[in-house]
Amino acid sequence: MSSPSPVDPRVEKTALTDEGLISVHDNVAAGKSDAGGHYRMLPLVLLFVFSGLIIFAVTYLNRYSGHFRGNIFDERQLPSNGPVVVAKADPLVLGKKQYGLACVTCHMPNGLGLPGIYPPLAGSEWVAGSDERLIRIVLHGLKGPVTVKGIVYGTAAMPAFGQVPGSGYNWSDEKIAAVLTYIRQEWGNTAAPISTERVAELRAKAGSRKEWVEAELRQLP
Ligand code: HEC
Repeated sequence: MSSPSPVDPRVEKTALTDEGLISVHDNVAAGKSDAGGHYRMLPLVLLFVFSGLIIFAVTYLNRYSGHFRGNIFDERQLPSNGPVVVAKADPLVLGKKQYGLACVTCHMPNGLGLPGIYPPLAGSEWVAGSDERLIRIVLHGLKGPVTVKGIVYGTAAMPAFGQVPGSGYNWSDEKIAAVLTYIRQEWGNTAAPISTERVAELRAKAGSRKEWVEAELRQLP
């Protein structure tokens, strides 16, 4: 740097020495305020304003977007103040699902149960017969010997599904009605559907009670 360039006369004028260069810069910069050359902090309040906006936006989306799920998000739907219409679940679809959640482990996918332990539902007179007996079996459970299609079972017990103390199941009237409608129409069974109201009626009538035994059920209509 300190050696002068013999070639370019423009460089020669200012860059002869380091000292010369500095003094030229000093001359140029003299009298100019360099306050604008410093970084300045953004006002802290802006940080709070933008954080607040982001939090609001995220909360809003989280709450009202329905997580953009295709089955509930309809961007063309107009807001409505009218009555909310809740589509009723198809009992056969709901019933099949409920069956798969619990009954299937004992009564098997083909409804035939396990020989000697779990009685069949396919072709069973308990399934096709009195709706009152059938509903009560599922609401409160069944214990002790029971004859199904001419064969006596009784080594295992049928759990209660209607929120009976000691039973883990707490199925709604709708779910019980659906599963019964399903088993009455599956595997070649052709009995009439069971309504949610009928289950509610019998649940209220019996209250909270222990499992049935066959003899008690046979006294019912
Ligand atoms: C833990 C095994 C188990 C589960 C789960 C179970 N059951 Fe049972 N179920 C039995 C047993 C065992 C019997 C016979 C009880 C007896 O011997 O007293 C029975 C009997 C029955 C009967 C009367 C007899 C017949 O075969 O028709 C019906 C109806 C029935 N169950 C329906 C259901 C339905 C519907 C579900 C699901 C909501 C279900 N069960 C879940 C074990 C089970």
